[in-house]
Amino acid sequence: MITHTLSVAYTEVSGPDNLSDQDKDLLQLAWEACDSAYAPYSNFHVGASVRLANDLVFKGNNQENAAYPSGICAERVAVFSASALHPGIPIRSIAVVARTEVFNLSVPVTPCGACRQVIAEYEMLSGQPIRILLQGNSEKIWIIDGIANLLPLMFHGGDLKK
Ligand code: THU
Repeated sequence: MITHTLSVAYTEVSGPDNLSDQDKDLLQLAWEACDSAYAPYSNFHVGASVRLANDLVFKGNNQENAAYPSGICAERVAVFSASALHPGIPIRSIAVVARTEVFNLSVPVTPCGACRQVIAEYEMLSGQPIRILLQGNSEKIWIIDGIANLLPLMFHGGDLKK
């Protein structure tokens, strides 16, 4: 019997001043998206922004529904919009932010499993790591270089081919 151990890495910075201008802008756009999230059921407002290799940026936010599973996360709204409008252009980076008045979100929010899987799809497609920036109610920001750090042992298209 062999136990394999995997490690993941993320970098924490104390605030947006530690980011490049591009990353700062991306984070700002995610906060703008967060402000118009439609989250009347959870009151958990999430915003996402996606920067493509051609430098176009797409925003998304969570869209909830009275039939709960019909809603969708911010990350997927942003990523799918980018891919729908600019298919095949690699995604360079994604910023995800969240805020709620219900409790204090002192750590950055990390994408749910379904969103990780979707991000993985586009990273595999381009073959280039996607940089993921995360922030919650505090100044602290987490930076993750590549989806394998969020979704180790991921399922991907290659698994469908013999
Ligand atoms: N949500 C996101 O938008 N992104 C995530 O990665 C986690 C969860 C949304 C879905 C739902 O509208 C609300 O947050 C509570 O789960």
